[in-house]
Amino acid sequence: MTGPVPPVAGDPGDGIVARLRAAGCVWAEDEAALLESAARTPSELEALVARRAGGEPLELVLGWVEFLGRRLVVTPGVFVPRRRTELLARTTIAEVVTRSRVAGAGPVVAVEMCCGVAPVAAALHATAAEVHAADVSAAALDCARQNAPTTLLHHGDLFDALPAGLRGRVGVLAANAPYVPTDRISSMPPEAREHEPRVALDGGTDGVDLHRRLSAEATDWLVPGGVLLVETSRSQAPLTTAAMAAAGLDTHVVVDPELGGCVAVGVKDQSMTGGAGVTIPTSASASSICSREMPSR
Ligand SMILES: C[S@@+](CC[C@H](N)C(=O)[O-])C[C@H]1O[C@@H](n2cnc3c(N)ncnc32)[C@H](O)[C@@H]1O
Repeated sequence: MTGPVPPVAGDPGDGIVARLRAAGCVWAEDEAALLESAARTPSELEALVARRAGGEPLELVLGWVEFLGRRLVVTPGVFVPRRRTELLARTTIAEVVTRSRVAGAGPVVAVEMCCGVAPVAAALHATAAEVHAADVSAAALDCARQNAPTTLLHHGDLFDALPAGLRGRVGVLAANAPYVPTDRISSMPPEAREHEPRVALDGGTDGVDLHRRLSAEATDWLVPGGVLLVETSRSQAPLTTAAMAAAGLDTHVVVDPELGGCVAVGVKDQSMTGGAGVTIPTSASASSICSREMPSR
């Protein structure tokens, strides 16, 4: 920003609303109120306003993001969970709940792969599932530890991070892996491009490199009848489901137009080997929360 900022009605004294507006914040009044409530001293407030006016995402400045009605901790250097990922979380909860109803099956094992600050694992807090989450980012796992304190966290590259004892035991495997095509990153909003790590965004040439890796290995880790849930976009969904189908999974897509959410679902056949396995009913609850489309088989 250059030069003094003119005062704004309802913005007494410190001109915070005007500064935020001049920096391009569309909801300047709301943001000013949030920053004021987050700061304990005037100098802390000044530091928060300066960061926000400098282009840092509001959530990283505040240190939290709202997700499914709860505040999750986020810190600089991590990916900020998006509203659309609430569809992945709700679908995961529904799949866990359905599988938990099977008598004598024991707790469902649920894994959030590429967990970031663990929005999906945190959403499973009220279920009886044994929840695991994994990511390559140590900074993200530090947030995940606070957001999902009962989740077992693992650090590393995709399935390499998981304990071998989980192989063939996973009932629900959920992932919001990076899926931005490499050449689209430069046209993303600066808040994402400049403040979120590239490893959290870059999905390779067509955006679904990680979806292919997840799908190819998932069948070794899922129980027969287990499910892989992968957030994708509507335009990339055919690529994501093709990767799942190539691994032998039975696929469909769940969308929530209001949230802009899209989840590719791949179910491992009961007869497939590679898992300890219990018989589970097909989840009706997950698909009832939103529309189902594009069966691949
Ligand atoms: C789009 S962010 C999503 C984070 C979180 N699931 C969410 O929805 O907020 C993708 C995450 O995948 C992680 N990641 C990228 N490549 C990975 C890999 N090969 N193995 C494990 N995690 C990876 C990144 O560190 C990042 O936290």
